[in-house]
Amino acid sequence: MILSIDQGTTGTTALVFDADGRLRGRSYSEFPQYYPRPGWVEHDAEEIWQVTLRVCSAALQRAGVAASELRALGITNQRETTVLWDRHTGKPVHRAIVWQCRRSAGICSELREAGAESMIRAKTGLLLDAYFSASKLRWIFQQSPKLLRRAEAGDLCFGTIDSWLIWRLTGGKSHLTDHTNASRTLLYDLDRRQWDGELLNLFGCPPAILPEISHSAGEFATTDASAFLGAEVPISGVAGDQQAALFGQGCVEPGSLKNTYGTGCFMLACAGAVRPLVPDGLLTTIACDAAGQPQFAIEGSVFNGGAAVQWLRDDLGVIQQAAETEQIAQGIPDTRGVYLVPAFSGLGAPHWDAGARGAIFGLTRGAGRAEIVRATLESIAFQSHELAQLMAQALGVELQCLRVDGGASANNFLMQFQADISRLCVERPRQIETTAVGAALLAGIGAGVWSPGGLPESLVDVEQDFLPQMGELQRRDLLNGWARAVASCRTFRAE
Ligand code: G3P
Repeated sequence: MILSIDQGTTGTTALVFDADGRLRGRSYSEFPQYYPRPGWVEHDAEEIWQVTLRVCSAALQRAGVAASELRALGITNQRETTVLWDRHTGKPVHRAIVWQCRRSAGICSELREAGAESMIRAKTGLLLDAYFSASKLRWIFQQSPKLLRRAEAGDLCFGTIDSWLIWRLTGGKSHLTDHTNASRTLLYDLDRRQWDGELLNLFGCPPAILPEISHSAGEFATTDASAFLGAEVPISGVAGDQQAALFGQGCVEPGSLKNTYGTGCFMLACAGAVRPLVPDGLLTTIACDAAGQPQFAIEGSVFNGGAAVQWLRDDLGVIQQAAETEQIAQGIPDTRGVYLVPAFSGLGAPHWDAGARGAIFGLTRGAGRAEIVRATLESIAFQSHELAQLMAQALGVELQCLRVDGGASANNFLMQFQADISRLCVERPRQIETTAVGAALLAGIGAGVWSPGGLPESLVDVEQDFLPQMGELQRRDLLNGWARAVASCRTFRAE
């Protein structure tokens, strides 16, 4: 039995798989999001740990499995989110600053003006953006010289969520991360595959706070029985959620591509062992090969995908459940010219505009709830389409297929609209929680349950294909409308 933990931006999922790759138990729970100021997003790391423990216990119970029967545990996680905790007490010393949080955009602008951007891009493969961890850390230390002194003295630990969970699972014995997560911090040199002194210096981060970096599959650590459900279980697979999904989709050959529809949308293509040249607007990051060893991937990200549907539910209150949106959208022929751009926290690839803000365009008296709901779903597909175009350019190929996964990929309207607007065959696997599947596969490989060449079929089956049906004229019309709407959301003020 393998337990896979998927610690995402809005909730944690735990899945229990058996050695044949069959899902035996599942549990999911959301946890509180904190928005103390416009553009700021925080989590309470302690709440993340508590909810994670709770869903693990519930999934095991549903599977009828005791924690002591687990052969391996895999972790995959929302990336970049920055946690700082006390090495002695294990308590967080600051709210976790979430990847979506824009509070450190000013720090990035200052560093850009100081001319640091090209060095950062060359070393990390990323962009100088508040999305990544380093400027978040610098923000904390600028706000609190006391925390900086404690960090320099070796009293604090930094980690992305994987490190934080490993720390708590092992009762504070192990301070570790893996290459995929490290490559998202802006503190990691892609070519040398290690933390980088110049970057640490630039962002004012004391090296004493850093976790050790390991490969994504292998013997990471062992859970501490008093911290984790009375059992000592090997933690043998760790990867950032998008890289885990890439692995879970079986995209380990150069050029293979997937899009995950989660809180954001993340399109990744495997690039092989040689660092690729990528166009502006896309990122180079670390993925894992079939054995869980580091290799390169190209990535494009949309910041608000499923989050826009969550906004319809939690803020506008126009739906009760995300799943309703499929029927609502299918119930009308089109949006009557309504476009919604969910740039709540700026725009990611290809625009990378931290100051852009969301808007609804084209409202007429006849437009109502259904049009806004449908426009929200369409916005997810439009943004993913922009990623696909950029990706095709980066790979130098004409794309035929897009493998999809993540919660919102269950939405048939969205998948058909994606196929139509991108003119691609959209392939959806039977198990759409591919992120968790990836972590389970890595854990299984790391613990020797599975070999890289002998992964269980049931975990990677395609369930349904969506083929393009829309006429070209209609497609062009919709894409033009979207382009106009996005242009109107772009930055009008400096952050
Ligand atoms: O880079 C952020 C990403 O890892 C978050 O993923 O699934 O929580 O939207 P998700």
